[in-house]
Amino acid sequence: MQSKSASVSSIDLTPVAEIVASHTPFAEADIISSLQDIQDHYGYLPRPAMDELSRLSGVPVAKFYGVATFYAQFHMQPHGKHTVRVCRGTACHVRGAPKIMDAVIRHLGVGDGGTTPDMCFSLETVACLGTCFLSPVMLVDTKYYGNLTAEKAIKILEIAAENHPGKEQ
Ligand code: FES
Repeated sequence: MQSKSASVSSIDLTPVAEIVASHTPFAEADIISSLQDIQDHYGYLPRPAMDELSRLSGVPVAKFYGVATFYAQFHMQPHGKHTVRVCRGTACHVRGAPKIMDAVIRHLGVGDGGTTPDMCFSLETVACLGTCFLSPVMLVDTKYYGNLTAEKAIKILEIAAENHPGKEQ
């Protein structure tokens, strides 16, 4: 697996200048959208890109970090194309969430907070997805899958993997 330091130190920062230019004159209201642009480009918020964003915009880097760490949409580490969130809340737990989580971990080969080496999936657990009536529930990107079994969960992941650009068609 490629080390994070190798990938971070070799990133091209040219897009950051283009992003700042597209938000000129840069205002505090541009912080979120510029972070979204950075993440759209790199797939996450690399530290050198954050530093460059601060330098070019004149906004202290702490302000960018404050926003980036507040919103769940932002990722500070390399992140998979698909985000899989398995609920571990009480309603889901009593209806089989641990079995689903075990199956998903085995299938992806990564644990909670991990990203598959092909950058296809990042796996997270959450305390409640707010759809307890569907328990047990899993969220893949923006789509909820309820009344899950371990078998259904794996099938859903297999279909999502087919849409991964690194996969042969
Ligand atoms: S406990 Fe799982 S959705 Fe609420």
